[in-house]
Amino acid sequence: MSETVFVTGGAGYIGSQCCKLLAANGYRPVTYDNMSSGRPEFVRYGPLVEGDILDGFRLDAALQEYRPKTVLHFAALIEVEESTREPILYYDVNACGTLALVEKCKEHGVEHFIFSSTAAVYGEPSVSPVKLSTPTTPINPYGWSKLMGERFLQDCAVDAGMGVTIFRYFNASGSDPDAELGVRFEGASHLIPRLISAAAEGTPFSIFGTDYDTADGTCVRDYIHVLDVANAHLAAMKSPVDAGHVRTFNIGVGRGYSVREVLESVERITETKIDLQLKDQRAGDASELVAGDIDEVVNMLGWHAEFTEIDDIVFHAWRWYCADG
Ligand code: UFG
Repeated sequence: MSETVFVTGGAGYIGSQCCKLLAANGYRPVTYDNMSSGRPEFVRYGPLVEGDILDGFRLDAALQEYRPKTVLHFAALIEVEESTREPILYYDVNACGTLALVEKCKEHGVEHFIFSSTAAVYGEPSVSPVKLSTPTTPINPYGWSKLMGERFLQDCAVDAGMGVTIFRYFNASGSDPDAELGVRFEGASHLIPRLISAAAEGTPFSIFGTDYDTADGTCVRDYIHVLDVANAHLAAMKSPVDAGHVRTFNIGVGRGYSVREVLESVERITETKIDLQLKDQRAGDASELVAGDIDEVVNMLGWHAEFTEIDDIVFHAWRWYCADG
C-alpha cells in the first residue's frame, strides 16, 4: 500500500505541485486545506480534507483517519507587503497555526515534519549569497512569523519525537511544466504573475523601487522553479532525519536576477513591450536575497535545481497563463 503523506495547503501553488510529484512517486498525498486561496481543481492526486490548521478538532480527526508518518506544512499566508498591514493575521496563521499543527503531530505520532520557511527570515542580509549561518533578522512580520515557526520546531522536535526538515525557499516561481497547475494571476502580488498579466492585458507594470543599492537599482531575487521546490521535498522524504533532529536548508538556484532582468525575460517570452511605471520602494522589501550554501542540500539530500534559467521559469508561467485563461 502506498504511504500516506499529509499536506497542509495541498490545494495551493507549491502544495499542489508537491502532491502531483508525490503521487507520481507512489505516495498518497492527503490535502488538508481551508480553501481560502487553494483551488479545488488542483486537488486531483489524493483526497481533500477541508479544514483550517487552527481548527484542532478537524486536525485531530484528519490525522486520526489518515495516520501519516510525514507531514508537509505549506499552509500559510505568504505576502510580505500584506504582512506589514495585517501583522496579527500573519502571526496567527503562520506562527500559531504552525504551533497548533506541531502539537497535533506530536499527539498522532508523526515522524517527519517538513516545514516551508522562507528567505525572508534573513531580513536584509549583509552578505550575498546568504549563508545558513547568516543571522536571521527579519524586516517584516511575514519573515518573523516564519522564523517563529522554525523556532517552535527547533524547540519541540525532541519533545514531539519528530525529525524536522526546514526549507528556506527563495522566490518560488514558474508553473507546472505540464501546465496542469500553476501560479495565481488574479489579484497576484508577486513579480512574475504581475508582469505576465501586464504583458497579456496591455496594462502598466509598476517597479517598486529603482534606488536600491544593486547593479541596476532594482531588487534582486533568486527565482527557484516550483517543481524544483517540490523535488526538494521528495528528496527530503527519501532521506529522512532522525527523531528529535532538525536540519535546515536554503532552497534556491544561487543566482540572482533584478526586477529589470525579470521584466526583460517576460518581454522576450511574451514578445511584448511592457508599459512601465516607476514607483517608490514597497514596505518590507529587502534589496537582495540570493541563496548560498546550496552545497549543503546537494550533499545531504542529493537535490539541485533543474531549472536555472529565468527564461525557462517565465516560459512555464506564461504557458500556464495561456492554459488557465
Ligand atoms: N515587484 C515589483 N512590482 C510588482 C511586484 C513585485 O517591482 O508589481 C518587486 C518587489 O518589490 C520585489 C520583487 O519584485 O523587489 C519580488 O517581489 P515578489 O512579491 O515577487 O516576492 P518577494 O521577494 O516579496 O517575496 C517572495 C515570497 C516570500 C519569500 C520571498 C523570499 O512571497 O514568501 O520571496 O525572497 F519570502
